[in-house]
Order: sequence, then C-alpha cells, then structure tokens
Amino acid sequence: MSEASLPFNEKIFPRKLLKEEWERSIKKTEEYWAEKAKAISWFKTWDKVLDDSNPPFYRWFVGGILNICYNALDRHLETPRKHQLAYIWEGEPGDVRTFTYYQIYREVNKLAQILKDFGLKKGDRVAVYLPMIPELPITLLATTRLGGIHTVVFSGFSAEALADRINDCQAKIVITADGSYRRGKIVPLKETADRALANTPTVEKVIVVKRTGQQIPMKEGRDHYYHEVMAKVAPNAYVPPEPMEATEPLFILYTSGTTGKPKGVQHGIGGYLVWAYWTLKWGFSPNEEDIWWCTADIGWITGHTYNVYAPLALGTTSFIFEGTPDYPACDRWWEMIERHGITILYTTPTAIRMFMRFGEEWVNKHDLSTLRLLGSVGEAINPEAWKWYYRVIGKEKLPIIDTWWQTETGGFMISPLAGLELVPLKPGSATNPLPGVYPEVYNEKGEIAPISTRGFLVIKAPWPGMLETLWKDPERYKQTYFGRWPNTYYTGDYAVKDPDGYFWLLGRADEVLKVAGHRIGTVELESELVSHPAVSEAAVMGKEDPVKGEVPVAFVVLRSGYTPSEELRQQLVQHIRSTIGPIATPEAIVIVNKLPKTRSGKIMRRLLKAVLVGAALGDISTLEDEASVEDIKATYEELRKQIEKKQ
Ligand code: WTA
Repeated sequence: MSEASLPFNEKIFPRKLLKEEWERSIKKTEEYWAEKAKAISWFKTWDKVLDDSNPPFYRWFVGGILNICYNALDRHLETPRKHQLAYIWEGEPGDVRTFTYYQIYREVNKLAQILKDFGLKKGDRVAVYLPMIPELPITLLATTRLGGIHTVVFSGFSAEALADRINDCQAKIVITADGSYRRGKIVPLKETADRALANTPTVEKVIVVKRTGQQIPMKEGRDHYYHEVMAKVAPNAYVPPEPMEATEPLFILYTSGTTGKPKGVQHGIGGYLVWAYWTLKWGFSPNEEDIWWCTADIGWITGHTYNVYAPLALGTTSFIFEGTPDYPACDRWWEMIERHGITILYTTPTAIRMFMRFGEEWVNKHDLSTLRLLGSVGEAINPEAWKWYYRVIGKEKLPIIDTWWQTETGGFMISPLAGLELVPLKPGSATNPLPGVYPEVYNEKGEIAPISTRGFLVIKAPWPGMLETLWKDPERYKQTYFGRWPNTYYTGDYAVKDPDGYFWLLGRADEVLKVAGHRIGTVELESELVSHPAVSEAAVMGKEDPVKGEVPVAFVVLRSGYTPSEELRQQLVQHIRSTIGPIATPEAIVIVNKLPKTRSGKIMRRLLKAVLVGAALGDISTLEDEASVEDIKATYEELRKQIEKKQ
C-alpha cells in the first residue's frame, strides 16, 4: 500500500489548507482563538484571549463567562437538534436506552436540583465512581451546571485509590452504583465504594444508581438511591446554569506520573471547551447523520472530552457501551456497529490487536458499511495493527485518525484531520500538529534534535486545552511540565520527526507505563509493593506485550523471615489489585536476592530491563558509568539465572 494512494473522498474531506491555519494560529494566536471561540456560547465574552503574564500559568479567555452544561445542552434546544439523539447507550446484557438532547437536558436539570438540595455549591467537588451507564455523563453535566467540579474515578480502581482521590480533592458528594456488569457477572461497586467511604470525612451524601439490583447496605442519612430522589423532583425542574469564569476549574482527573501518588490534572472551562469543540470538529467532523462511537470509558480523559463535552458541544449523536468487546462473543462490537449503524469508530491499538487475535472471521460476519472514519488513541499504533484496522475494518477505504494527546492536553494535539485537510497517512505516525500546537523534538540538552533522530517531544507554545495546574499543587505543575526547559511543556514522550515533518511517537521517556492504553506509574506499584509486610524493596518495569503494548513486571526483594513461593507471589499480585486496581495487575513477580544499584544507590533500571527482555550484555554497555563492568556482568548473570529458575 503506498502512502499517498489512500482513496479519500474529497467531498467528505474538504481541503482547507492546514498549513495556513497552523501558521496563523501560531503567529496570531489571540486573533485566531478569538475567532474560533465564537463557536461557543458565552454569557459574556472575554477581555483577553491569552494571559501569559505569569508563565507557566497560562490563562485562556480571561474575563469570559460561560457554562459548559449550557453549551452541551441548552443551546441546542433552540435548534432542530432538540429532538435528535444525544446518546444511544447499550448495556452489557443488551438493554438499550436512548436520550434526545431534550431528554438528557431534563434528566440533568433534575439531578442538578438534587445536588443543589444536597448543598452542592459552585466550586464544590463531586466524586464519580460509576460504570459506563447514561447516569455518568448526566452526573458530569448536572455537576457543572451548578459550577461544581467533578472528579471521575474509573470504576476499575480500588477502594484505596478511590479514597485517596476523594480525600485529595475533598469531595462533598459521591455518585456510584450498586454494581456493574462485566462478562455476565456483577461487579459489586457499592461494596468497594463503602470501603473507601469509611475513610473519607468530607463526604456528606452518596447517590447510588441502581444498575444490577442486588441488595446493598445503604447508610441512613448519607446514602440515597438515584431513582428514589429523582422521582421526588418535578419532571420539569429547571436549574439555571451557573455563570462561570472561563478560568475556573471544570474538573480534576487524577493521572499517573513519575513520582508519588497520582496527580490531579486540573482543566479550566473556557479553554478546554474551545479545544474539545475544535479538536473533534477538525479530527472527525461529525455531522447530523453520524453516530460517533468513542470506546473509552468516561473514567479517562478520552471519555471526558470525546464522550461528553466535545460531542455534546457539537450536537453529535454518541453511542456508549457498558461492556467488554468479547462478551457474549468476539463479534459484539461489529454486531453493534451493524445494528446501530455507527459511522465513526474511535478506539485503542490494544483493542485492535485483541481483535486481530480473535480473527477476522468475527468481523466479516457483519456489515460495517456504515463506517466512514476510524480513529486510534492511547498508545502508539504499530504498523501491523494499523494495516489490519485499515484492511479488515476500514475495507481499505477509511482513513485512520491516529490522535496523539494526553490527559494534560485536554484534546488531540498531533493527528491527521479529516475535518480540515487530510494529509497522506503513514501507518504508525500521528502525522502533523493541530492548529495551535507547536511541537518540537529536543535532545538531552534542549536543542532541536536532528531529523529522524529520537528525542523528547515538547510543546513550545501554550494552547487552549492545556491543563491549568495540578490541583492544589502549582509547584508540582511547574516542576513536572515546565521544570526541564523553561516555558516549554515537557510531554514525557519520546518522538522522532521524519524528513516530511511527520511526528512518530515512540512511547514514554519516563517511569510511566501504558498498559492496554491505561496510564500507570511504576512508582505507584513500587510503593504499594513495599507497603506489603513481605517486601523490602521493589522495582517495576514495563515488558513488551503483543496485545496490551506493555505489562508491568515487578522485581522484589523479600524481608528476612519470608521465603519465595508461588503463594506469596499470588498474594502480592492480589495486593496490587486491591490497592490500585485490576488494571495494574503485574504480569509477573520476580523475587530476587537483591536489586542492582548504582554507586550512588539508585536502582539500575536499565539493567533490570535488559535482564527482563534478555538483551545481550553488549546492549547495556552504557551502564558503565553506573557501576563497574564486572559488577554489571555478574549481577546480570545472577538475575537471569534467578528469573529462569522461577518462571
Ligand atoms: C500515549 C490518553 C502514541 C503517550 C489520551 C502519552 C500515544 C500518553 C497516543 C498519555 C498516540 C496517547 N500515539 N502514543 N496516538 N495517544 N499516547 O494521559 O505516551 O492516558 O503521553 O491520555 O499516552 O496518556 P493519557
């Protein structure tokens, strides 16, 4: 397949000079974004588009007043979209619910009334611990209608992780469900939430959505069933959308970094909304006839931006799904695409690799002719998966929009743009920056790396969707993202720029793993492991995995009195599942006598990595500055022996 020969339909993808847009956005930033921000409904327009007087605390649309829920719902009520579908939802057991913009507006107003009655005020935090059910977006919208700040905790996280997040942001209200469905079984969500709620003094009220229906304990005075409180509110309840400053916080989303506990990425209202709107419009240009399916859980940034705020601001119909791709059978997704007539599929390379394993016969049982665009996110898509996606799902007709971005960036940053100008695609490259994004590849010294040389991806200018700060930790924000090179946003990713100016993302340059597209810090796993009484030291690394991209493997040293056993290893795996959550489950726990250390006492991660992948010693000669060659060789051999014995 030659790159330039992909048959793109000029009518669907009008060519509009991406380059010109990009140059204008960088040279005339304020003028450019003032124009774009007109797509949003403001109660009062801004006084200044970009206040960069106190870098790196950039403030967008300063003085502007708006409400994001108003932009997502109310403004469509005056248009024909009022009675069009906002959401088509399918539950794992096959139950389907649909909501027009008007219907969801009604639900959101009722829930906002309840939150208000429960004492929620502008600036208060609401923690959301829900499966992928319609009440999840409804909760976010009801919260932000009142000017509240939401923090969604992915329902696969543990009680401890939930409690940490609730306590860090001091949430007043928690919304959860009795349970969720996973592969036909009930996941007891309320039980987990209750364990967290035993240690969260700020929580006053808990709203529980009845999803699975089993008996659950409800704490008198604190816990209320969603359907019961909703039934008491007038069906035509109306809660005026709170006028908010563009720079006030919209949500906090915790994400893993290189040190300590997950950090609370804080997004503001105005800049984020403008970014959400334009990135989806440029990336996929959904129109009235589309049914957009972003497969991400709303527990992650991809779900926040592309299952809630961007599609609703654009008036799109979104499909959302509660279940897993292989239940009850490996063609669940294709069957749903066929049945609902889904037109755009935006998913992860891990999902694609999983489907490759299942075999294309599952796909070919279904008519996927409604699809017009495909997208990818979360990790680099390897060319093999890209080609399979293109051939088997896209029938060699549909472009693949490979979007590179991060929790911190709010929306797409580097991506082909089907709604602006589609450049020729190269399998595995996210192609070019969006208007407003100024990426560069730096070497160790902060100089521009030569073309085709691997370096660190940085962003050289502020953009509207960028995080505002880390929740209650501006110093850490400064240090993490702008500490390496002044006024330059450090992404933590490796990248290369090719001779055509295309960007190729090459994975994390730091101690962050991407496991099935989920972001997990090795430090978090290490600190949980050493919190177990049997473990004195731990080092966690990523190991390449054919489906998940990478998986965590832990090297641990035991405290005296403990002996290695399969049972202990299982206990440690269980410990991670219950302290962080199943998504962080280590693939293997390797018990070793000691960890290799540098002269200054730091764990030699590169050596461990080489041991793990069985790389030849020659490949680790760069370690010489960390210890003597003899020591390295001896440790390497010793560790290999231990691994071979124990696996
Ligand atoms: C990785 C997810 C290559 C990258 C939206 C980034 C990607 C991290 C891509 C952010 C892509 C995301 N190609 N790598 N298209 N998309 N990444 O915060 O390492 O969960 O830094 O945001 O995912 O992960 P996060």
